[in-house]
Amino acid sequence: MNLWQTEEEQTDPLAQRYCTEEDLHCDRALVKYDILGSMAHARMLMETGILDGSEWSMLHEALFDILVGEVVLGPEDEDVHTRIENLLTDRLGELGGKLHTGRSRNDQVLLDTRLLCREKLVEAALSCVRLAASLAAFSGKQGDAPMPGYTHSRKAMPTTVGTWAAAHAESLVDHLRCIDSTYELVGCNPLGAAAGYGVPMHLDTRRTAELLGFERTPVSPLYTINSRGILEHQLLSTLAGLMLSLSRMADDLVLFSREELGFFRIPESFTTGSSIMPQKRNPDVLELVRARAASVVCQATQTAMIVKGLTSGYHRDLQQTKGPLISGLESTCMTLSVLRPLVQGLEVNRKALGKAMSPELYATAEVYALVEGGTPFRSAYRKVKTTKALPEGIGAHHGPPDIDLQPLYSSLKHYRRCWVNRRARLRRALENLL
Ligand code: ARG
Repeated sequence: MNLWQTEEEQTDPLAQRYCTEEDLHCDRALVKYDILGSMAHARMLMETGILDGSEWSMLHEALFDILVGEVVLGPEDEDVHTRIENLLTDRLGELGGKLHTGRSRNDQVLLDTRLLCREKLVEAALSCVRLAASLAAFSGKQGDAPMPGYTHSRKAMPTTVGTWAAAHAESLVDHLRCIDSTYELVGCNPLGAAAGYGVPMHLDTRRTAELLGFERTPVSPLYTINSRGILEHQLLSTLAGLMLSLSRMADDLVLFSREELGFFRIPESFTTGSSIMPQKRNPDVLELVRARAASVVCQATQTAMIVKGLTSGYHRDLQQTKGPLISGLESTCMTLSVLRPLVQGLEVNRKALGKAMSPELYATAEVYALVEGGTPFRSAYRKVKTTKALPEGIGAHHGPPDIDLQPLYSSLKHYRRCWVNRRARLRRALENLL
């Protein structure tokens, strides 16, 4: 039963379905956070004297039982917040409804999604560190294997497998910088904002922030409500950037593992077969990385389009940001996890790489050999351009520059420490609530 409705008030069943059906799927991912948020809120209400000790302990115990039990969300209750309040009132009568003192579903849903974002960002960041570390290790191990470097998908200059792998690791470090600031953005406690205008009573929002592991409390309750959708957009944009880099890496791997090039071999357990062509092993995982990147980019745009044109305060439109948020987080975390073992299992075919190192790749090296001998660059360039055949092996002294992986390892060490600490802090806070 909807919280705001009396027996006499009826909602058209189709209208109720339209408003809730799709949203209830999203709310399944929020059950745990809604209960943890309620536990923190209840404790604060007890500490500020709104609940007495025995009321608090009855509520806390009931919330705990709901948490460890199974919460079924159905069409009769509008959302997860309604369902949990109804479960509490079924068990505790009026006391169940007392827990809504000082809050609104508008700040509750923000709290739920923010806790989910924090847990998922921790997971994404640590997976990002791990994947970058695997790429750096691969770069270190295969570092010297020569490889054609391409521009415009045409052979350009010699490079190495090490340079290629380090490029992807380094871009992940950039994305870790962005995840860092995104985590800070979602570190502000939404509780106390209620419907956007606070409540006419004292609430200790610093205390709920502390209990839930948030670093900050907002100045204006309206800011909190207005941040919904914008923060989702910023977070999804961060994830979209990361997914674009992963998509590029996937694209490279699809290309470099084609029969015609055969530079790399993708571990067989990360490929799939064909139902008609018995010889085939296909890079479906990598193809889906590319497609999922497209979805996350769309999800970032989707949330922007939903908030665009909304005035200050809550609007039901904001509910539609939940789906893209949950899906974007989920698919980014999974993409990072599946790519790590795939990278760890990559095999390098040095023979194929060696064969691909054709003389034209060394044209620029030849120019530089002349430059070293004192010829001005443009004259050297013209000279090489008009030379018909390039001698084999010209680039021996002018191969690709060496890669120093040390700065990459230091950054990864820093981010690893930082995210392990954040995870511990968040876990500690949430476990202490129980
Ligand atoms: N399902 C709603 C959402 O995600 C919860 C908040 C409902 N608030 C309201 N005033 N109808 O936005």
